[in-house]
Amino acid sequence: MRIAIASDHAAIALRQALAAHLGELGHQIDDLGCDEGQRVDYPDYAAAAAGAVVTGAADRAVLVCGTGIGMSIAANKVVGIRAALVHDVTTARLAREHNDANILCLGARVVGPLVAADCVDAWLGAAFDLRHQQRLTKIAAME
Ligand code: RB5
Repeated sequence: MRIAIASDHAAIALRQALAAHLGELGHQIDDLGCDEGQRVDYPDYAAAAAGAVVTGAADRAVLVCGTGIGMSIAANKVVGIRAALVHDVTTARLAREHNDANILCLGARVVGPLVAADCVDAWLGAAFDLRHQQRLTKIAAME
């Protein structure tokens, strides 16, 4: 898969760890930053990754900030994005099975790198359950 990944300054180490993990699994990674040594605004990076997904430049995206909350709020402003903030493998798996989440958000100050990698693996390994399509259609109608 082509996976875009981005973070703010609070989650650079986690972003780099996840990018390396996903690369080792054979995914094509588009690392959108941010660079080290600066304080940045997470909406700028959420917008870049969400744009990559909705234009088809990326199949999925992973967004990390301190809590994952800001990234998820910002990414979900983009039409067509279903960004899910998760903290464990169960919510990560269900974010795909029930919500067809196309962006996964994680908090570097909340989960460690091993839990985060397990979450990404669970999300990528799950498939959308079509029984939930009616709810997604209603969400799309709200857009
Ligand atoms: C940055 O300090 C912090 O606010 C950000 O990483 C994130 O936690 C926001 O939701």
